[in-house]
Amino acid sequence: MISASSIDQVFETARVEEVIGDFVQLKKAGSNFKGLSPFSDERSPSFMVSPVKQIWKDFSSGKGGNVVAFLMEHEHFTYPEAIRYLAKKYNIEIEETVQSDEQKQAANERESLYLVSEYASKYFQNILHKTDQGKSIGLSYFKERGFTEETIKTFDLGYALDEWQAFTDEALKQGYNIDYLEKTGLTIVKGEKRFDRFKGRVLFPIKSMSGRVLGFGGRILINDKKAAKYLNSPESDIYHKSKVLYGIYHAKQSIAKEDNCYLVEGYTDVIQFHQTGIKNVVSSSGTALTSDQIRIINRLTKNITVLFDSDAAGMRASLRGIDLILEQGMNVKVCAFPDGEDPDSFAKKNSLEELALYLDENSKDFIQFKASVLFEESKNDPIKKAETVRDIVNSISKIPDRIKKEIYVQECARIMDISETVLFSTLAQINKKEFQEEAKKQKNEQKAFDVIKHEQPVKKVDVQYVLERKIIEVLLLYGNKTEDFEDLVLKENDKNELILEPVIQRAKVFEKVFLDLQDDEMQFSNPQFKTLYYTIIDRLNQTEDFELKTFINSVDQDMANEITTILMDDERYALDDWNRMNIFPKEKTTSVAQLVSETILSLRCFLIDQKVKEFQQETLHNKIDSNRNILEEVKDYSSLKMLLSRKLNRVL
Ligand code: CTP
Ligand code: MN
Repeated sequence: MISASSIDQVFETARVEEVIGDFVQLKKAGSNFKGLSPFSDERSPSFMVSPVKQIWKDFSSGKGGNVVAFLMEHEHFTYPEAIRYLAKKYNIEIEETVQSDEQKQAANERESLYLVSEYASKYFQNILHKTDQGKSIGLSYFKERGFTEETIKTFDLGYALDEWQAFTDEALKQGYNIDYLEKTGLTIVKGEKRFDRFKGRVLFPIKSMSGRVLGFGGRILINDKKAAKYLNSPESDIYHKSKVLYGIYHAKQSIAKEDNCYLVEGYTDVIQFHQTGIKNVVSSSGTALTSDQIRIINRLTKNITVLFDSDAAGMRASLRGIDLILEQGMNVKVCAFPDGEDPDSFAKKNSLEELALYLDENSKDFIQFKASVLFEESKNDPIKKAETVRDIVNSISKIPDRIKKEIYVQECARIMDISETVLFSTLAQINKKEFQEEAKKQKNEQKAFDVIKHEQPVKKVDVQYVLERKIIEVLLLYGNKTEDFEDLVLKENDKNELILEPVIQRAKVFEKVFLDLQDDEMQFSNPQFKTLYYTIIDRLNQTEDFELKTFINSVDQDMANEITTILMDDERYALDDWNRMNIFPKEKTTSVAQLVSETILSLRCFLIDQKVKEFQQETLHNKIDSNRNILEEVKDYSSLKMLLSRKLNRVL
């Protein structure tokens, strides 16, 4: 267990914009930062981070919270994992309180899988560097491939002894559970027997964006036609191969900085590039590129350069995966290496300058490249040429940007020596087909929706909800401020009329809110707001220096989420490019006192309206000589409402 004081220290030090900045490319937008949602596919940013409030909000998925909530959502960390991650990032020493056996057991399963993987990685590194077999077989293999000591350490490369259960035995001896060893695939269990999956292989740990070990790739060192050259960890609760990119942890910063990502095929390509000095490189590790993997890159940059060796089969396969990249609105370049070379061998032979120059000179726009390759292949074959046209136009149709699409059509017409009209009409055909399919889909969805609509009438804007929410927001942001409130005190003049007399009162915002609402015996109608309201008031009452950040960190996850939603909704307008459109959002109310008074008064007016309506209902039901008392009360309420409205005008 992590001690409370360590947790406090982590929260005090961690900056939400810095932490999120490691995962999402953030741009300054007023006092906030904005970026593309890491939780959904989108092309215009709806993800906001507020350095002042130390919270974030993703408007496309509705998620939001503090720095820990982000790590839990994005990295799927547990709470302690998130705290440990932050402690590591900010060099904070974590103080552990002693764990009971029960607590140990309760540490959830995913955490156990992470721990076992982390342990295995350390163990394999140790074998590589410290044992005779490790040094003479594993380490010398890596050296032969040209990896330096530093590179081997950076990538945490390791080696598994060529013995049936050396690793498993040691892990069990260290207290690791056989279940987790099996679930991570490190140990293969067959009845009573146990085998080390990676026996005799050199190991490449596969890490998450935040550097946690998720699984391994292991390369065989002997020539064995029957055994796979590379063996990878099986899918597990922590390792989903379609969702990770090898090298992303070491590349993420450089990808954002260079605003480009090189995509290669294998582990060794990544490592060799990195060692040569090009660090913005990742690999899909032998599997076909997936949308999830592209999305990871898309958060860091809009530009991908796909690198492949010159063999035709490999190239054809890569070309197909690339349409997926276009679909996400990214710019794709491709670069092929000379005959017999792959990125690994080429980087090994060349200096950084030479490699950079080669990439620069040989990276070609993907569509142009595809058009010229296909054109070469089908030049003398009319039937094949028709197919080719369809193929290339299909790629173009995936590009979301219309202007880009048109430019490509023109360009391809030139390269393939075909009229633009033919290409445009092919494009129109494809679009039409997609459009029809989309329309059909929408119609079906609409049908499903229609059924629901009958059952659930559309909700009107709920004024009370909005106002209650506003009150919570005011308390959170300004609750502790002392302000001058111009209060109009209700009095009866000599003619028995109600009048309002102005009095200036100095008070803390939360006291003012609390007393005013109490005067009206006003209760929150929304149960969540009600709990929140009393929690905030209570805290403000108790602590001299109420701090929003500390407060959010101290309440439970649901409440913290509710708070961020309330606070960040206001920032939403900043997401649109107001400046460009020459529209400026309404300035926030200049004085806090005004805002507070206005909100309370509006709520009062609303409640009075409701009361009056209630009375009216009552008289309707009672019919008979319309109960004099009720009439009187309605009259009183109506005049009160008038007075309040007058005051509201003044405040406004
Ligand atoms: N791969 C795999 N399983 C295999 C073969 C390949 O997972 N049986 C993946 C590995 O991630 C490998 C990548 O595909 O790095 C590329 O394969 P290949 O070109 O065969 O490997 P290289 O990286 O060139 O391997 P090496 O240079 O070590 O022979
Ligand atoms: Mn190779």
